[in-house]
Order: sequence, then structure tokens, then C-alpha cells
Amino acid sequence: MFKYGLKLSLVVLALLLVIAGAAVAQDAGQLEVFSWWTSGGEAAALDALFQVYSERVPGVEIINATVAGGGGSAARPVLQTRLAGGTPPDTWQVHPGWELLGQYVAAEYVSPITDLYASEGWNEVMPQGLIDTMTQDGEIYAVLAGVHRGNGFWYNKTLLDANGITIGETMSVEEFVAAADTLKAAGIPALCVGDSGIWATAQLFENTLLGTVGPENWMKLFAGEMAWDDDLVKQAMAAYSTMLDYQNEDHSSLSWDQAVAALMDGKCAFNSMGDWAYGEFVKAGLVDNEDFGWVSHPGTAGSFVIVADGFVLANGAPHPENTLEWLKAVGSIEAQEAFNPLKGSIPARTDVDREKFGPYHNWSMDSFANDSLVASAVHGSAAPALFQQALNDAVTVFVVDRDVDAFAAALVQGAADAGMVAN
Ligand code: GAL
Repeated sequence: MFKYGLKLSLVVLALLLVIAGAAVAQDAGQLEVFSWWTSGGEAAALDALFQVYSERVPGVEIINATVAGGGGSAARPVLQTRLAGGTPPDTWQVHPGWELLGQYVAAEYVSPITDLYASEGWNEVMPQGLIDTMTQDGEIYAVLAGVHRGNGFWYNKTLLDANGITIGETMSVEEFVAAADTLKAAGIPALCVGDSGIWATAQLFENTLLGTVGPENWMKLFAGEMAWDDDLVKQAMAAYSTMLDYQNEDHSSLSWDQAVAALMDGKCAFNSMGDWAYGEFVKAGLVDNEDFGWVSHPGTAGSFVIVADGFVLANGAPHPENTLEWLKAVGSIEAQEAFNPLKGSIPARTDVDREKFGPYHNWSMDSFANDSLVASAVHGSAAPALFQQALNDAVTVFVVDRDVDAFAAALVQGAADAGMVAN
């Protein structure tokens, strides 16, 4: 009996050791990646990154921590709570510029990865201008998975063809209005908007603002060298109001990707959106220039609004080694070539094989190489979070009251509160 009991205890002990060992091994084998990539196209692209990672580092369990909500409007507050509480994910999705440097680097939530730029040769293959937007005091804090072009104007080609509307190389607000009136006469709302997340219509405004003021004034606005109630800004607000007159009635109950789906279904014709919209077209199996087309948002040809997606190393990451491998994978040529065709963004690396990319991506790569590059405020890069919030709040009111003077005054106040003044 005693002997049997001893044997049993030894077996139990052995079992416990095996379980404990497995738990330790599993713990060492995890990686938590935090993002808001949950739409069809976004999730497919994220999965492609995971696949590249798993091929490079087999056996690591990836915890895919997503919080749904385009533009990260719901994800960022969740992340902030975790960071403030000292339980960071290993790595998270981030926009360069103010969002990275102002919210995460300044608060010491992230660790520099400057060494990876040297060891992986990224300094030679990633544009210095982009690296600069992720650099503070000589240290680099993120690696980019891709670079979205924010000022896309997508359209349902079949629907426009059926209504006798042809789109040229560029489009003005007047040309949009002419097309929109034709569609209106046929009972079709010209503009597909899904602003259950207010950022989506804020982006429509941002694009219209750029189209009216141009890239040089854009820089001045964000440098505090041009007033937010300048006549040109007010003209942009009036143009935005005009465009809103042509939006779908159910806009406030749709998410951005549901608006893209409405475009694909032919319920409306155009969508002003970053090229993550392209990811939805690809996911649905649609073909560039056949089923859908694109042009720069009215008035913005010659500019590329940068909405870049990077990943960071958390300060106090639970799995630092796996995270470094993740960042290396994200910056690798395999990942950049696998992820971006599905996501709609262009690779941050300039040494990719362009043949592996379709017509839209090649068009966007040319735009990036030749056009004026400006940062997005709606996606956190051009201005502090305080201004981003003020802009969203002001847009929320404007969509309803269409009061240009009040809109301008709110942005003047927002810029002042955020400290956006000329040096
Ligand atoms: C942006 C992000 C893109 C895309 C988009 C819609 O902020 O940079 O990658 O995900 O939101 O969710």
C-alpha cells in the first residue's frame, strides 16, 4: 500500500513537472500583438504577417489582441489603460510622428530599436524621411509594415459606366459635383460614408482641406504658421459641406468598411478613404480598373497623405526576444511583399520587387516617389492627440450644423490648446 502510494506520488510529481515545464516553455513561446486590424482586408493582411513570423520563428504562440474600430479609435484607449497599468502587450500598431513620439516615446512606454536598423540593414532600404518621423534624440522607436496613402477617392466603375460617367486622371470638387448630380438624378447617392467612427468623415474633411489649401499651406497649418480660420480653410469647410450633401443617408450607422461594401454593392458610387479600402476590394476578389477605380481625392493630385503603420517594442515587454524577432519579420522583404498587396499600403522598403504588386500599388509607389508628402492629422501623425480629438469633436458638430465659422473657431481653439503655435 505504502509502496503503491509512493509510486503514485512519484507519478503525480513527474506529471506536475511536465505540466510546469510545458507552461514555462509555452510562456517563453508567446508573442502578443495588439492592433485594430479586424476588417476583412485588415485581418487577412495581419494574418500574412503572422505567417511570415511563424515561418521564421516556428512554435511561438501568437496572441492576436485586436480591438475592433477603424482608425484605432476604440483600440487606443484600451491600449492606454494597459500601458498605464503596467501590463503592455509585447508590441502594438502605431502611427509615426506625434502618435508614436508624443504618446508612447515621451511616456517611456516603448524601447528603442535603433540596433535593428543597423543589423537588418534598414537604414539603407527605408526612406530617411520616414525614419525621421520615428526618431527621437537619435534613437529609432518603430519599424513600418507599410505606408498607406490617405487621400484615395475610390469608385464603383461598373456603376459609373452604367451612368455614363468617366473619370479622368484627376478630379476637382466641381467635377465631383457634376458627377454627383448625374447620380442623384438616377437616385444614387454619390458618396459612400461610414462614420459610425467619426474619424472616417474627419478624413473626408482632411482630404478636402488638403485639396483646397494645397500641401504647402498644409505644412503651415500644422506648424502654426497659418490660422485655422483662414479664408482658405473656410473654403475647404464649405466644400466639405457640399460633399456631405451627397452622402448616403445611413452613413452614421455604417463603419468605414461597411461603406466600402456599399460601394461594391452599387448602393453609392465614391468613397474618400485611405487605401486600406483597397484591402477590402482585394478581399472581395475585385479587380483593379475593372470593378473599381481610383483617383486622388478631389483637388489632391500631386500629394500623398502618409498614414504609415509601424510596430514597437514595449518597454517591459513580457516576451522581448520574440518581440525583436517580430520586428525583424515586419521589416523583412518577405513580410513587406506578403502584407502590403493585401493591406493596400505600399512597402516601406524601397527594394521590393514591383512586379509582385498590381496596378494600384505601382500607381501609389509612383505617387510616393514623386508627390508632396504630408502627414495625416486624423491618423495621429501631423498633430498632437489633443488636436486630433478637437478635430473629431468639431467635425461631429459640423456634420449636423454645417456652421463654417463655428467649425473654424473650434479648430483655432483646438490648435491653441494643443500648443500648435509657430516657434
Ligand atoms: C488607420 C491605419 C490603417 C487602417 C485604418 C482603418 O489608422 O493606419 O492601417 O487600419 O486605420 O482601420
